[in-house]
Amino acid sequence: MAVFVASPVMADVQQADFDSIRLYTLKNSSGMEISVTNFGAIITSIKVPDRDGKFDDVALGYDSVDKYINAVDKPYFGAVVGRYGNRIAEGTFKLDGQTYTLAKNNPPNHLHGGIIGFDKVVWNAETKSTDRGDAVVLRYTAKDMEEGYPGKLDVTVTYTLTNDNEVIIDYHATTTKATPVNLTQHTYFNLKGEGRGTILDHELLINAKRFTPVDETLIPTGELAPVSGTPFDFTEAKAIGRDIGQDHQQLKFGLGYDHNFVLDREGKGMALAARVHEPISGRVLEVTTTEPGVQFYCGNFLDGRLTGKSGQPYVHRGGFCLETQHFPDSPNQPEYPSTILRPGKAYETTTKWKFTVKE
Ligand code: BGC
Repeated sequence: MAVFVASPVMADVQQADFDSIRLYTLKNSSGMEISVTNFGAIITSIKVPDRDGKFDDVALGYDSVDKYINAVDKPYFGAVVGRYGNRIAEGTFKLDGQTYTLAKNNPPNHLHGGIIGFDKVVWNAETKSTDRGDAVVLRYTAKDMEEGYPGKLDVTVTYTLTNDNEVIIDYHATTTKATPVNLTQHTYFNLKGEGRGTILDHELLINAKRFTPVDETLIPTGELAPVSGTPFDFTEAKAIGRDIGQDHQQLKFGLGYDHNFVLDREGKGMALAARVHEPISGRVLEVTTTEPGVQFYCGNFLDGRLTGKSGQPYVHRGGFCLETQHFPDSPNQPEYPSTILRPGKAYETTTKWKFTVKE
């Protein structure tokens, strides 16, 4: 465990909170390593072997908390986003007859839990050894009406590193009042290694025959549209860059891929969300989840202004996120699977990232 140097640059975070920021590193029997900080529950690095056994860090990020806090355009590198990951239209929703108002921090909408979401708070952390592998357990209690959301929310996120080169992310939450909850992990991957150019050559499969088209502010229209015959068809693996330049209105709205896909699944339980293969290193990332959707975002807002931990600029489309989650704007879209958590019930979801290589 190491201290992760931080200074109190945010108005309502106390020095004592900053003093408690640490970096935890887990290593498994094959040498795979992940580092996690209790600031924002951020995964700061993921070191995995390529097909020749050479380790690289495949997660974009920084080596100091200040850089996470001050990054231009708020990329949410590696963080847990919440209480509601993704957008809520015009920062408002109605629940049980009452209207709630949230920050429009991504005008005109609310994004990733607001101004000080779960990515910018200090969590309690402990490490433990489990049957599956070593784990970091992070806990945060959001106050009733924090960022405008009703209910005191107790959240636990557990990162477990298994000896099979898997990162298992277990989310758990309970509330004192009915509230929307949609937690996800916002790691940007580049399977060549962070800072090594774009991800456009990575071959991606998404287990989804449908996606949720959006309006120009990236709020879903409500339609579940077939991907077939569109650039959104990743049902068979293809390079991320193959169709990204097509003249398609949805790609214009997202400035590339920044869309939620409706996962093909049978019942509840773990289902395949996506598989990504990077041909040069041979690295493969497989994402499975209990969630109904995955937001595929390919770093359209990166533009080289942010410099990562190894001193390399994060270029346009220099990383991709696969944010397993419920659909965007669910609190305003009654036909979508519900994101409302009620007192007495537990929010429980799991996502797994498995790293392998292909010869
Ligand atoms: C969103 C993007 C946003 C990014 C912030 C993603 O989850 O879909 O629109 O720009 O987060 O880094």
